[in-house]
Amino acid sequence: MTVGNSEPASEKLIANLTPELRLQLRSASAQRGLNISEATTQALDLWYGTADAPSVEVKDAKSWGTWVPPGGVARFAGECDERGLTKVQGIAQALSLWINRDQPAASPRPNVVRRMLVAIQKGGVGKTFLAGGLAQALAELGLRVLLVDYDPQGHLTRRLGQQPIALDSGGSLLEHMLGKATRHIRRSLVTLPQARFGERLHLLPSCSDAFLFDAVMSTMRAGREESLARALEPIENDYDVVILDGPPSLGLAMDIAMHYVQRRPGELSERSGILMPVWADLPSFEAYDLFNTQRKQLMTLARVTVDELGFVLNAYDGRRGASVQTRREEWEERSAPGVLAVFTDLKEQRDAQDRQIPLLEWEPDCALSHGFRTLAKELAA
Ligand SMILES: Nc1ncnc2c1ncn2[C@@H]1O[C@H](COP(=O)(O)OP(=O)(O)OP(=O)(O)O)[C@@H](O)[C@H]1O
Ligand SMILES: [Mg+2]
Repeated sequence: MTVGNSEPASEKLIANLTPELRLQLRSASAQRGLNISEATTQALDLWYGTADAPSVEVKDAKSWGTWVPPGGVARFAGECDERGLTKVQGIAQALSLWINRDQPAASPRPNVVRRMLVAIQKGGVGKTFLAGGLAQALAELGLRVLLVDYDPQGHLTRRLGQQPIALDSGGSLLEHMLGKATRHIRRSLVTLPQARFGERLHLLPSCSDAFLFDAVMSTMRAGREESLARALEPIENDYDVVILDGPPSLGLAMDIAMHYVQRRPGELSERSGILMPVWADLPSFEAYDLFNTQRKQLMTLARVTVDELGFVLNAYDGRRGASVQTRREEWEERSAPGVLAVFTDLKEQRDAQDRQIPLLEWEPDCALSHGFRTLAKELAA
């Protein structure tokens, strides 16, 4: 465990948590209307006042971090020393105590649709794979999901067995963003037909006009940042989650998408934001650094908060050698955002893609489908 300090009014507590505890914490915090850092602060206070907290299983705990009030890191370290506990055990005890205590009533929070952008500018790392699989698993869970093919390549649309929107039809996302659409945006949606999704999974298909996205958008005189929110507003309330499949670029389209997933007034942290597929290789770290610079610049210039939801380590194959394993550890040691899931490269995805059938329909029992269900549970919490 290490300790850092980079925000003026709070300190970062970095610890290791098991995936189970991470999931329970997310869920209990959301139910109680709290951010993770607020929940952790409450948990620590509870633990300081509990002399005989039971010990907790911490096997397979992974790096994790959150913000606590000034002085919180030193106090926690001192308390662990006094009780003769590792910090991993200390934080696990505190969070378990808090999660398992009687639930106080949640404070009222606005019911904001969750908005997730699956993105990183590196090509072919699994953005479309992740956006599509996660959306399917969330719909299977019972959530109403809008999947937006925000990449002019239209891979998502095709892989789900659907057709792109015809050029100049007056119904493309770009036309809606420009205020030039001639029909209601609902008429552009497609309901995925597979029974397992219970008509809850809708797709806004791509259109090849998006290849000109940045050029066209740069001529827009006003309201560019808000253009995606404005386009989706008429249908947003029909959904629990909106997922965007991002393009492999860092242009204007990415800025606008990041702007769309910014934390809205009253919305809890890390409910909406960016989900990033990465590989266990050096170029992925370089790509992330660049991507994160853009996110931070946008936050400063546009005065918004865009949360990172986490990494998904994709196409992982530990048999490829020690450097791959080391890179995986490097991703996992990053405390925030954490690695939410690890997917191996499996043929089921390629077969499903080849047949243009959603993965969870094509091979509902494969490891990838189960992985998406676990990820969906965590992100839906
Ligand atoms: N875990 C996986 N197992 C098997 N195949 C995978 C996996 N992840 C991705 N793929 C395949 O790798 C290829 C690239 O993935 P994908 O299209 O999702 O990447 P992308 O980041 O969206 O690419 P682009 O940058 O072009 O948008 C696709 O053929 C996809 O089906
Ligand atoms: Mg893609």
